[in-house]
Amino acid sequence: MRILLTGHRGQLGRTLMPLLASDHEVEGIDLPDQDITDRQAMQRLTDAFLPDLILNAAAMTNVDGCARNPDLAYRVNGMGVQNLALAAARTNAELMQISTNEVFDGQSTAPYREWGPRRPINAYGQSKLAGEWYAERLLSRFYIVRTAWLYADEGRNFPHRIIQLANERGALQVVTDEVSNPTYVVDLAEAIIQLIKTHAYGVYHLVNEGSASRLEFAKAVLTSSRRAEVPIAPIRSNAFQRASTPPAYTPLSNSAAAALGIRLRPWRDAVTAFVNAAGYLR
Ligand SMILES: NC(=O)c1ccc[n+]([C@@H]2O[C@H](COP(=O)([O-])OP(=O)(O)OC[C@H]3O[C@@H](n4cnc5c(N)ncnc54)[C@H](OP(=O)(O)O)[C@@H]3O)[C@@H](O)[C@H]2O)c1
Repeated sequence: MRILLTGHRGQLGRTLMPLLASDHEVEGIDLPDQDITDRQAMQRLTDAFLPDLILNAAAMTNVDGCARNPDLAYRVNGMGVQNLALAAARTNAELMQISTNEVFDGQSTAPYREWGPRRPINAYGQSKLAGEWYAERLLSRFYIVRTAWLYADEGRNFPHRIIQLANERGALQVVTDEVSNPTYVVDLAEAIIQLIKTHAYGVYHLVNEGSASRLEFAKAVLTSSRRAEVPIAPIRSNAFQRASTPPAYTPLSNSAAAALGIRLRPWRDAVTAFVNAAGYLR
């Protein structure tokens, strides 16, 4: 296939690029050279490259930044997807839109199913819902892939921060009242590679299996990197002043991809793999 991969320098994009390139012809785009909010540029690009699939891994992912500038969040996470969906429609391409656990309100008592009602409570989630909305309404051949709490071997993410703070301060405070699915981008990327072969369009939840609070996630990172002696004090999220309010409980349940035989390993196994790959074992 010919694949246009947006956000190829991000956590997911960087991981996907070499995996996709071994079997497909891939063109990667990202800021500052290409901007998905530029509709004409997206049309020119797709008219020239004629992709079979547009895989949108580009997004404004800074949730506090989205809360401070919701207009920009809508422009990138909503209308950016509109531009890509219109370009896909013009060139008869499929679209895979990567979305988030934060389209849900966090009030559930059980993991969210693919078809559960969406009710985002913050600007990031609202803007990502707008992206889902454009994909669903402008195209018939689309995948929406929701994921959660991504971390990669490189880049800024939660487990890197935990190790950094453990090394620098020797003690941590981590919240207990935020629960979701820690997801290793390597596992997500491999699941995406399987999913694009199916052409089974629809809504998918691709997350490492099982859920955790931020505190449990942090403890697993410290234990598997042999830093279990570092003390962690449990705290509530309202102890922090943040621009964005994270939904409290957003684990995703993978029913649709599992029915196609696509499952990600348990999250604790993925954390162990990450700690080894990132060179954090001591
Ligand atoms: N990270 C998570 O925990 C998480 C959880 C659930 C879902 N997701 C979703 O998963 C996808 C991938 O996330 P990620 O963690 O890989 O994100 P990331 O590391 O922030 O990468 C996103 C990439 O998109 C680029 N980008 C931003 N605005 C753009 C624009 N207007 N035009 C072109 N490129 C643009 C970013 O460039 P700059 O760095 O220069 O801005 C960055 O390279 C996103 O759709 C995200 O919403 C992420």
